[in-house]
Formats: sequence, structure tokens, C-alpha cells
Amino acid sequence: MKIALGITGGVAAYKAAELVRRLQQEKLDIQVVMTRAAREFITPLTFAALTGQKVITEMFGPPDAAAANVESAIEHIAVAQRIDLLLVAPATADILGKFAHGVADDFLSTLYLATKAPVIVAPAMNVNMWEHPATQANLALLRARGVHVADPDEGYLACGMTGAGRLAAIEAIAQKVCSVLGLRHDFEGQTVVVTAGPTCEDLDPVRFLTNRSSGKMGYALAEAAARRGARVVLVSGPTDLPVPEAVDWVPVRSTEEMRHAVRERAADANVVIMAAAVADYRPAAKQTQKLKRGDQPLTLELEPTPDILAELGRDAVQKTSRRTLVGFAAETRQLAESARSKLARKGADIIVANDVTQEGAGFDTDTNIVTLFLRDGREIPLPKLPKFDVANRVLDHVLEIQKTSR
Ligand code: PMT
Repeated sequence: MKIALGITGGVAAYKAAELVRRLQQEKLDIQVVMTRAAREFITPLTFAALTGQKVITEMFGPPDAAAANVESAIEHIAVAQRIDLLLVAPATADILGKFAHGVADDFLSTLYLATKAPVIVAPAMNVNMWEHPATQANLALLRARGVHVADPDEGYLACGMTGAGRLAAIEAIAQKVCSVLGLRHDFEGQTVVVTAGPTCEDLDPVRFLTNRSSGKMGYALAEAAARRGARVVLVSGPTDLPVPEAVDWVPVRSTEEMRHAVRERAADANVVIMAAAVADYRPAAKQTQKLKRGDQPLTLELEPTPDILAELGRDAVQKTSRRTLVGFAAETRQLAESARSKLARKGADIIVANDVTQEGAGFDTDTNIVTLFLRDGREIPLPKLPKFDVANRVLDHVLEIQKTSR
């Protein structure tokens, strides 16, 4: 994952070097951006050497380099789109004021306005500046807009005073970054197989049966599990989504292909999560030639596909596997009844049920509204959440089940 680390002009700027080192342990790719004032305290060379990347210091290049100027003038947009997080540490009262009021007069403040990535600020300054109503009002505004704050510590300050204003501990800032990015280590050592997207069942060489799954739910699960340290295998039907980082991607098309890929990968998996919308039926006979149009109604004979989840569930019943099994249920009515029946019938540990007729739930949305049905009888309804957050909540329950069954 890529983050931008903005360094502004305070004595604590030297601590940013240690912060870079700590964040590199999380395998983050760090683009450092320094303000003019920051360069009074520490040189860009330190960060270029630590990150192996050019440090961004200016909005524009030297006045004679016209081509370079155009390039650097749009660089903030490119960086803004590339990053998963903007962290500013240390953040001066000046930069907080600029962020709060939309002033964009250098690279860092322009990057802040241009990015849609989450933002964390780690303020550091003299105690009187920190306590000043202007600073506190700016911070309140930023918090209200969703900016995360790594609050400063209290203690002896470089100015000789004692009080709040010392840059938060490096570990505390790193933990904040991990939590905002969803980087936890609680799935380390585990292999998680996730299915996503639709399956396609061919009728003839040009036509097929499929469904509306975009893959977003499954891809969110794969990404969340990978960020939490799992080795992830993503078995995916056809989608337009980019493959999440650090995921072993296995593209498939038909239910039979998905079944083969899942069964092979599930053998040594700790967790299998079936978010794919797998076709329940396929043409009983596949035509090798294109079906010709005629005047009479056409009846297609369909046969049931193998139920991949139920097959894995049977392994658990036969005690040939101890993996945690999660299925989804896409319902349009009688959600609880159908989900409970699927939980029992398919031998899953959790069924994540969504009513796909609800706005903000189900197919091709960025959010989902789900209820978790657990084997111990619990039903856990979740509010409407981004699919990435739903994924993390499902993973939390997988861990809980693993702990209790140990
Ligand atoms: O991909 P998105 O656009 O983000 O949409 C998300 C989603 C709606 C696809 C997802 O939230 C979801 O509900 N996935 C399951 C869809 C589905 O096939 O539900 P089902 O109730 O028909 O199947 C129940 C379970 O059995 C599912 O885990 C399914 O993967 C599995 N199954 C179904 C049929 C089959 N032949 N084999 C299976 O393993």
C-alpha cells in the first residue's frame, strides 16, 4: 500500500525519520512530501535515502524548466490518486489552519484537497499554540470532516515549556495508521480462500447465463483478510475489479471451474468464505453451435450445479477438515428463515445474509446491509456499512469462532 507522509516545519521533524522506518515494517510504500519550513529542520536527502524515492518539496520546478513545471504542477493530482492514506507528522498549527480552511498554496496543502484517501494528522507544537482556540477550532473542524488525529503527548517541549504539544509516540502514530488502513496482524499464518463475482454458464458459443454480482463484496473480503496478514487466495468469476495487492488471484468462469479451484485451494486453508454468486443451474446440454432463431418458443433444460459450499460443509461433518466455513445468502424474502436453513443445509459456521432488494445492499453497491447467522444460534444484524467494513466484521467473527473451538 502506498502512503504519503507530509512533514511540516517543527522541531519534531527529525522524528519523521524514525516514523518512516517504523512504517516500512508494515510494508508500506512511502512518498515523503516536505514543506519549505520542514526543510529548515531536516534535509530531504535523509528521507530520499530511507525511502529510495525522490522527496517532493516544491509545487513547481525551477523557473526555466517549463516542461518540468507542467509535470510537477499536476504531480499532486497523480500522488493524490495513488495513495491509500495521507499522514502528516509532525503537523504544525499552520498546516492545520490551511487544511481546515482549504488554503492550497504549496504541494502538501494542495495534496490534502486533491486526495480522497483518509487523512491522519499528528500535531506537534508549543503548548500555548496547541491550546489556542484557533488551533482547537481548526482541529474540531478537521475531526468533523473525518480527519483522524494522533493527539500529541504531554511532557517537556523543545521550547522549554511543559504541557501538551509533543508529537505522539512513533508507535502510537504507527498504530493509528494500521487501524485506519485496516492493517492488523490477527490473521497472520492463516490461509483464507475467498470466492467472488458471478459464475457464467454457457448455453452455446455466444450466449451464457449469469447474474448481477460485481465481485465487490468478495474483493473487499480478500483485501481485508490480506491487510490483516492472511495469505489470501481469491477465486474470482469474471469482474472488472482490480486485483487487490498481495492476493493470489485465480480467475474462473463456470461453477465447475470455481468448484475445482476452491476444492484444490481449500485443502490447506484455515478459512473459506464463499461470497460468489454461484449459478444454481446450468444448461443440461451445451450446444456446440450457435442456437438458431426460430418462430417457436424455445425451452431450455437446466440442471442443478454442484453446491460447492455444501460439499465443503460435508467435509466438516465428516471431520476431514477443521476450517471455518462462511457462506453468503442472497435473499429477496424470508431472509432469516432462508439463512437459517442454508446454515444447517450447507454445514457453514456463519451465513452472511443480505436482502438484495434493499437499497445500499447486495449486488454492485459499495455498501451492504447484512445479518450474520451463527451456528450457536446468534443473529447479528449490522447497519449499512461499506463492503470493506462488512468484510472486517465477518473476519472478526471468524476469529471468535476459531478461538472458542480451540
Ligand atoms: O458481488 P457484489 O456485487 O458485491 O454482490 C455481493 C453479493 C450479493 C453477490 C453477496 O453479498 C452475496 O450475497 N453472495 C452470495 C450469492 C449467492 O449465490 O447466494 P445463494 O443464497 O444463492 O447461495 C448461498 C451460498 O452457497 C453462497 O455462499 C454461494 O456462494 C454458495 N453456493 C451457491 C450455489 C452453488 N452452486 N454453490 C455454492 O457454493
